Amino acid sequence: MWQRWFNKNNYAQSEPDTAGLVIDPVKIPAHVAIIMDGNGRWAKAKGMPRVFGHRAGVETLREIVKTASQIGVKVLTAYAFSTENWKRPADEVAFLMNLLAEYLDSEIEELNQNQVKLRFIGDTEQLAPALKAKIAETTRLTAQNSGLILNLAVNYGGRAELVRAFRLMADKISNGALTAAEITEDVVNAHLYTADLPDPDLLIRPSGDLRLSNYLLWQVAYTEFWFTNVNWPDFKPHHFIEAIYEYQQRERRFGGLKK
Ligand code: FPP
Repeated sequence: MWQRWFNKNNYAQSEPDTAGLVIDPVKIPAHVAIIMDGNGRWAKAKGMPRVFGHRAGVETLREIVKTASQIGVKVLTAYAFSTENWKRPADEVAFLMNLLAEYLDSEIEELNQNQVKLRFIGDTEQLAPALKAKIAETTRLTAQNSGLILNLAVNYGGRAELVRAFRLMADKISNGALTAAEITEDVVNAHLYTADLPDPDLLIRPSGDLRLSNYLLWQVAYTEFWFTNVNWPDFKPHHFIEAIYEYQQRERRFGGLKK
């Protein structure tokens, strides 16, 4: 059934690992947000340095990008580095920055093959010039792709994003381009990094922590949350499918009443 559906929709030819779950192809969440958590704990449990977990986490991201593309998710937003992650030891921060640069170098070909469009949210202006250049280049090189949007949150914080939006609107008010009365939810939305994207339908957080960690605070107003105790490096395509399956069983009312 999967194979037929994939071929019809011109997605990749291999079947994802569904652990026997049959998901409804017409109810695939358009936007899935992921907090890639638990890398450090995963590594420590193996007696390895934390950064070993981050490297393993990149492999998981690779697999999940493939699975998300295959099943027809439109946008996958992955939290790679938060505005608070600068508090970590300098060597871990440096490792994560290098890992991102490496990922961009090594992935570009496969992203293009799979028609994945790479984008970034967050204050990437504050990153090192070489990394900023790579971000600009990979964004440009994948801009014409027509498949999944892989949205990487780098130096991203939900509160910082809102402060940025308020400042942008305040500037417009100062120069007469906007009035306070004209500020609506749509106008706020238009000043976020995610302005042209739908809100996440589903947010996945592995590793057992039950919090948002400053992720997409405005956008998750009616997002469905799915948590698992599995650490991100152990998170497999079948976990992703399980999250989608459970999402499909939920009734979303957006504050309204049952249909
Ligand atoms: C949280 O795990 C993870 C991060 C802060 C970084 C996430 C980054 C990756 C998965 C790899 C880098 C991504 C790209 C695109 C190159 P944690 O370190 O907080 O784990 P812990 O909670 O067990 O300590």
